[in-house]
Amino acid sequence: MPPTRQVYRRSPKVAGDATSGSTLILTEEEPITLTDLHSILIRVHAVSLNYRDVNIIHGTNPWAVKADGIPCSDAAGVVVEIGSKVTDFQVGDKVSPIFDQLAINGTEQSRQWLGGEVDGVLATHVVFPAEKCVKFPEHLSFEEAACLPNAGITAWSALMGTRGELQVGKTVLIQGTGGVSMMAVKMARVAGCKVILTSSSDEKLERVRRECENESRPKIQVVNYKTNERWDEEVVRLNGGRGVDIAIENGGNSTLKRTMGAMAKKGVIGQVGYLGGQSTAGLDGMLSTLIDKTITLQGINVGSKLDQDKMNQAIAANEMRLTDVIDRTFQFDEAIAAMEYLWSGQHVGKVVIQVKQ
Ligand SMILES: NC(=O)c1ccc[n+]([C@@H]2O[C@H](COP(=O)([O-])OP(=O)(O)OC[C@H]3O[C@@H](n4cnc5c(N)ncnc54)[C@H](OP(=O)(O)O)[C@@H]3O)[C@@H](O)[C@H]2O)c1
Repeated sequence: MPPTRQVYRRSPKVAGDATSGSTLILTEEEPITLTDLHSILIRVHAVSLNYRDVNIIHGTNPWAVKADGIPCSDAAGVVVEIGSKVTDFQVGDKVSPIFDQLAINGTEQSRQWLGGEVDGVLATHVVFPAEKCVKFPEHLSFEEAACLPNAGITAWSALMGTRGELQVGKTVLIQGTGGVSMMAVKMARVAGCKVILTSSSDEKLERVRRECENESRPKIQVVNYKTNERWDEEVVRLNGGRGVDIAIENGGNSTLKRTMGAMAKKGVIGQVGYLGGQSTAGLDGMLSTLIDKTITLQGINVGSKLDQDKMNQAIAANEMRLTDVIDRTFQFDEAIAAMEYLWSGQHVGKVVIQVKQ
C-alpha cells in the first residue's frame, strides 16, 4: 500500500504571491506515490531551518518563490522505495536532497532552490530524482545530517573559496552565531584553523567559547560587534596585528567595509549573508581597501552536489559530530513555533525539526 504523507504548505497573505508573506498550513494526510522511474521516495526523519525559510514566511525574502509551495530545503531521511531505473541508491540508504536541484557540478547557469521556487521538504515523505540526492555520512544522526544541505555546504564553500583556502594554520573570521556560522566554526577548527568569532551577544559568545573548550583544540577568540563598533580593529589586534586569511561575511552591505579592514593581504571573503539590509551607504571607500589588500571577494551560493560529496567525505573522514551545532529541536507539529524561535534570534547554531512517524 502506498504511504500517505503530511506536509506543510505556505498560504500566501496575498493570493498567489508568496513574497507578501505566508502562513503555514499543515495539510491532511495525502497519498504519495513514486511515478518517476528515476526517483526515490524518502521518509523524512529531520528537517533543519535556515534564515531564508522564515524570511520567506515573513514576506521579506528578496527572491520569487512558489506561492503555495512546501517550505524548507534541508532534510535527512531514509529511502523507502526506488524507481526501477535507479542504480545509485537502495532501500534503507540514508539520504538528503540537494539544496539547488540544478547544481550538480556547479557550472549550471540556472537554479532551483528547494523550499523557494520549487517544493521543499517540510513533510513526512518526499520524492526526488535520485541524481538530485546525496548519501550522508553514516555516523551522523538524522538531526545532524539535516544541518548539511544548506548551512553545512554554505560554510564549506565559504571556507574553501575557489582555491581550497581552508588550510592548517590560517585564521578565520566568522560573523554571528547562526546556523552557517556555527557550522563554519566547527569545520575551521577541525581543519586546524584559528577562529575569531563575532556576535551581538556576550552571552552567546561565552556559550560558544565554553563549548569549544570541551574540544581538545586551541581556544577561539571572540568580539562583540554591537558593543565594539570598531570590531575590525579588535579582530586584527586579537590576531597579533595581522588581519585574517578567510572571512565568513554575514552582514553584507552593513559590515563588508569593516570586514575588509579585518583582512590580511590576499585574504578571501566568502560573501554569504545580507543580514544588515540593502542600503549601500556603508560601502563608501571600500574599493580602495579591496585593491590595497588584494582581497578576493567571493559570492557564495550554497554549493553543488559535487561540493556536498566532497564535504561529506571530509566529515566522514574526520568522524566529525555536529550535535553541539544543534541549538534546539522541535517536533513536526511545532514547525511554526520552530520558525518563530529562529526569527527571534535567540538561537546559537541550528534549529531542527524532528519528523517522527
Ligand atoms: N549565500 C548563501 O549561499 C547563503 C546560504 C545560507 C544562508 N545565507 C544567508 O546567510 C545569513 C545567515 O544565515 P543563517 O541561516 O545562518 O541565519 P541564522 O541562523 O538566523 O543566523 C543569523 C545570525 O547572524 C547574526 N547577525 C544578525 N544580523 C547581523 C549583522 N547585521 N551582522 C552580522 N551578523 C548578524 C546573528 O548572530 P548574533 O546573535 O550572534 O549576533 C544572528 O543570530 C542570512 O542572511 C542567510 O540568508 C546565505
